[in-house]
Amino acid sequence: MPTSEVSRFSHDFHVNKVGFGCVDCHNSLFQQAGSSANAADDFAMSAFEQDKYCGVCHDGSTAFAATDQGSCARCHGSGVTLPKTVVFEQPVKAVVFDHSKHAEELRLPCSSCHDKLFKMKQGESEKQPDFTMEAMLHGKHCGACHDGVSAFSLKTRCAFCHIGKQGYNRLLGKEQIGH
Ligand code: HEC
Ligand code: HEC
Ligand code: HEC
Ligand code: HEC
Ligand code: HEC
Ligand code: HEC
Repeated sequence: MPTSEVSRFSHDFHVNKVGFGCVDCHNSLFQQAGSSANAADDFAMSAFEQDKYCGVCHDGSTAFAATDQGSCARCHGSGVTLPKTVVFEQPVKAVVFDHSKHAEELRLPCSSCHDKLFKMKQGESEKQPDFTMEAMLHGKHCGACHDGVSAFSLKTRCAFCHIGKQGYNRLLGKEQIGH
């Protein structure tokens, strides 16, 4: 199972308050045995958009959407949020990725990036030895879109992504003031 703190699921709420029958979930979506979903590798947010598990209903029509920023806390408590800006420092300092812009303004589905291109965990990409321009120019990581077709090419506008040491310090300064 993935890495979030345990998410909330209440039988009492779904069965007694909403009125679902056992067969609405068992055994098409979930086994009637302890923690079998939790044991599955794909029991994760990215599967929900592909109409699996909780996502069959939590799609914004039958029930509140799993991908809606305002709903995270309803299942997770207050533990998880969407990042605003991700700053990569390896192998070079510093590359900026505006998560809000991509996920909220451009409305790219979470599954366009998670978990095929990126894990839902900051710092994971930087651990990979192929987090490089060479790999991206072959369609990996940011290069899956930044190919001059879906989004501007990696071969141009270096400074859109590479904000450099000065930009990095400015960003940190700004964030400290913001606290
Ligand atoms: C809205 C979906 C949903 C409905 C409706 C539902 N369940 Fe479940 N049930 C789940 C989920 C999610 C789990 C946890 C599965 C897992 O971890 O693999 C579960 C687990 C179980 C388990 C195993 C629990 C354990 O701790 O071993 C049993 C038994 C069970 N359900 C019985 C029922 C019965 C009986 C009903 C009807 C009264 C019902 N469920 C209705 C979603 C549902
Ligand atoms: C069969 C459809 C269905 C499935 C599957 C389902 N839900 Fe729900 N869930 C609902 C509906 C309908 C509501 C109530 C409507 C709403 O709040 O939008 C709800 C409400 C909730 C709530 C709010 C409860 C409260 O106390 O306010 C939580 C939390 C939740 N679901 C978590 C989950 C999780 C986690 C899973 C997967 C393990 C899951 N649900 C699977 C249909 C479903
Ligand atoms: C309908 C309930 C529900 C909602 C709403 C929801 N999640 Fe989840 N989330 C889950 C379940 C179930 C899992 C899988 C089991 C686990 O890791 O707890 C999960 C897993 C995760 C994980 C672990 C890694 C992964 O890839 O799955 C993260 C991070 C996460 N959620 C973040 C969020 C964020 C951010 C939001 C709001 C945009 C959100 N969740 C909204 C139910 C929900
Ligand atoms: C255009 C690509 C893209 C889209 C779309 C996207 N993300 Fe992300 N997300 C990322 C990247 C990149 C990271 C950082 C991963 C890393 O450092 O390896 C990330 C990290 C995260 C994290 C980890 C936060 C932390 O503090 O560790 C969560 C949670 C997350 N995303 C949730 C979502 C959800 C939910 C959606 C859809 C509403 C979404 N993302 C849409 C690219 C994206
Ligand atoms: C799923 C596709 C997708 C992925 C993956 C993706 N982007 Fe984007 N990105 C876009 C789109 C679409 C735009 C808006 C169109 C354009 O500017 O060409 C955009 C715009 C941008 C912008 C301009 C933002 C602005 O404020 O104008 C930057 C910078 C950027 N992306 C950086 C990145 C970085 C860094 C990564 C990898 C960590 C990445 N993107 C991964 C699709 C993606
Ligand atoms: C869409 C965003 C984006 C654009 C545009 C971009 N890069 Fe990168 N670049 C990255 C990311 C992400 C990394 C890996 C993370 C890091 O090093 O912080 C990276 C890493 C690098 C590295 C170190 C790793 C390696 O491959 O050697 C160099 C050098 C580099 N970029 C040069 C450039 C140059 C030169 C340009 C313009 C021709 C450019 N980049 C345009 C996102 C981008």
